Amino acid sequence: MEQKRKVILDCDPGHDDAISIILGASKVSNLDIVGITTVAGNVEVEKNTLNALKVCDMIGLHDVPVAQGATKPLLKTREIAGEIHGETGLDGPELPEPSRAAIDQHGVDFMIEKLLHTKEKITLVPTGPLTNIAMAMIREPGIMANIEEIVLMGGGTFGNWTPAAEFNIWVDAEAAKVVFESGVPVTMFGLDVTHKALATKEVVERFSAIGNPVSNFVVELLDFFSKTYKDVFGFEAGPIHDACTTAYLIDPDIFDFKQVHVDIETKGEYTYGTTCVDLLGVTRKEPNVKFASELDQDKLWLLFDRALKSYSE
Ligand code: RIB
Ligand code: CA
Repeated sequence: MEQKRKVILDCDPGHDDAISIILGASKVSNLDIVGITTVAGNVEVEKNTLNALKVCDMIGLHDVPVAQGATKPLLKTREIAGEIHGETGLDGPELPEPSRAAIDQHGVDFMIEKLLHTKEKITLVPTGPLTNIAMAMIREPGIMANIEEIVLMGGGTFGNWTPAAEFNIWVDAEAAKVVFESGVPVTMFGLDVTHKALATKEVVERFSAIGNPVSNFVVELLDFFSKTYKDVFGFEAGPIHDACTTAYLIDPDIFDFKQVHVDIETKGEYTYGTTCVDLLGVTRKEPNVKFASELDQDKLWLLFDRALKSYSE
């Protein structure tokens, strides 16, 4: 049996975060989810935590601890994306109250403790603002040696929150700067590639045909998420941004990458939160990011198919 890869999912569920958790926890996944930490992002961290616990119940993930993290960015005031994910942060599906609470350890402390006392390296998989990871690195630099890779959804060569900045990075660009300059290997799934992970009508019909409670839940999530993406951005389908991270960890061949240098803008009036992706190498700076540039549609949706069907077994 292939050795499972230890991961901590750091998220702000969020419809696409929820789908990323579902993919990562499926029977086709090679991931050992050490824990789920939550961060202020799409909505307030308390709501993101409640959503994470509800998703865990929905998919029978009862033995993975959920630890609530940062309530706001390192320096800025908090901003949320309620118009995309709704008042609860997971509007659309009706879910029962969670069967358990988050553990009483702060998400940052949880991350530090797991990283300091692990026999094998752990991969961090942030799909929200990078506040928790930056706080952990600042508080305990000793954790860096035990981080295998940081596989993140964020940034891009264009923005969705400002013309230049993507939401996760924009919420806490100072935290992103700490992470991108940490020297830890960063694999970045920015909007350039996540906007290709579109859950089209055909994809949603494919998921509907599976017909188990988890696939039906994903369809409900996508119904809501696609509607808000149409209303806000005029998209014909919702991009499952965050699930690109767990899809990559399960099957890296789905994606193509470029080794590039990325700087994070933390000063500009119009450019705050920009990931300055040096695609042409003009800065002559050492690459610090594995930048996802392309994805194979057939392989991606086949993985989703297999993963959702595995919840019937
Ligand atoms: O810009 C997309 C990102 O912002 C996704 O992670 C989504 O969940 C929101 O957090
Ligand atoms: Ca997210």
